[in-house]
Amino acid sequence: MTTNLTGITLRQAEETDLPQVVNLDRLAFAPLRSPAEIERDWYGQGLNLPGRQHMLAVDDLTGQAVATYAQLDLSVVLEGQGFTTAGVAGVAVAPERRGQRIARFMLEQGVQEWRSQQIPLAMLYPFQHGFYRQLGWAWVGRLHQYTVAAKHLPLYPERFGMVPYDPKHHQPALQDAYQRSALRRNGWLQRQELQWQPRLKPEPGKEIYCYQEAGKLLGYMILQYAAADSLPGTLSVVVQEWVALNADAYRGILGFLSALRDQVHTVVWNTYPEDPFPYLVREQHRVLEVNQAPRLYGFTHRFGEIGGGFMWRLVDLTTAFRLRPVKQGSPFILTFQVSDPILGDQTITANFTAERMHPVAQPVPAVVKTSVEHLTELFCGLRRATEMVWTREIEYEGDRALLQKLDAAWQCTPPFCWDYF
Ligand SMILES: CC(C)(COP(=O)(O)OP(=O)(O)OC[C@H]1O[C@@H](n2cnc3c(N)ncnc32)[C@H](O)[C@@H]1OP(=O)(O)O)[C@@H](O)C(=O)NCCC(=O)NCCS
Repeated sequence: MTTNLTGITLRQAEETDLPQVVNLDRLAFAPLRSPAEIERDWYGQGLNLPGRQHMLAVDDLTGQAVATYAQLDLSVVLEGQGFTTAGVAGVAVAPERRGQRIARFMLEQGVQEWRSQQIPLAMLYPFQHGFYRQLGWAWVGRLHQYTVAAKHLPLYPERFGMVPYDPKHHQPALQDAYQRSALRRNGWLQRQELQWQPRLKPEPGKEIYCYQEAGKLLGYMILQYAAADSLPGTLSVVVQEWVALNADAYRGILGFLSALRDQVHTVVWNTYPEDPFPYLVREQHRVLEVNQAPRLYGFTHRFGEIGGGFMWRLVDLTTAFRLRPVKQGSPFILTFQVSDPILGDQTITANFTAERMHPVAQPVPAVVKTSVEHLTELFCGLRRATEMVWTREIEYEGDRALLQKLDAAWQCTPPFCWDYF
């Protein structure tokens, strides 16, 4: 644990630091672009915006900025409960200062600060999962992507309920549909202006369609037209986000995409693993690319791809445990001994009762020994404790029946998120 890094100070960036942040971002993410382009495209509205604060690591001797990242004030939903979440974006270290533990130092400082603010959760999209895993983050975000022929999608009649999005008429209802859906799902952000602005911003090739019933907006889809690389002269559509509050809206969206078949060859459908989409497509294989793609295994066709996406990290365990709803069952008490590479070892005992976890002062003999990373995987419903004892990722002492009760109590759909940063 590096709580201090000699000669480096971490502080909040101010608007006057913009040229230094732009230069660090340029060197880390877009070395072929000019500072002016980056400033225009990424910081058109300024450096720090409501919900986004840049941090800067400065060399004490020279006063030069050597690293930066942006901290986002997010709120994610888990089992209908909002969790204040610290988002991390754009971690960038000056090329000549890499390998000196500066990135690690910034994240350690961040995690300690968030805990002091009783923030239960942190989230980021990693460049490499391993780098953040050693700091306690867990990979929890899975994305399924299906690339199918538009003609293989069902031509549902509900497609006639789809209308083009008109910001003047539809924006509040569209945002409300997202918010209602977010509260029923796990991992979706409770969006602020910072997240809505890029989503709804008009861009070449981007279209938004809404599903309406009796004038009520019940779903929408944001899609991007693109040239289908594999088949010159044809178009593909990449679905960037879709929300359906009922089955009619879902069928309307799929039927609408299907009806594009004369113009659009390929549909790229991004979704969460539990989506019934793959069962509704006529052919369970990926649309043919240049040549016949080789089969995956035996007679199994290629069908979809799995994305290894975002990571979560539990930060303030007490707040996280207090907030998380649990499935109903007979009460039980467990002690968790949690190792944390930044915050040190912690013990927390929880009484699972009345659909909540209540803190208990005295530890009990039934003990789960886990890293904070593995605890995060369990907490968000991605994995089961019985399985993780079997793989020896975690240890357990006590009555086996209690471990099964923990599985049942924390059972939920794992998180998914449309926003990337
Ligand atoms: C990625 C980046 C931020 C890392 O910064 P850095 O200051 O060089 O990293 P650190 O020195 O703090 O590395 C910390 C440790 O992680 C280790 N590490 C790096 N990648 C790892 C991985 N995939 N798995 C496990 N450990 C890893 C390093 O070896 C180092 O450990 P050590 O000090 O014990 O040797 C920097 O290289 C950078 O700016 N890259 C370009 C932009 C980018 O990709 N940003 C990430 C966006 S999410």
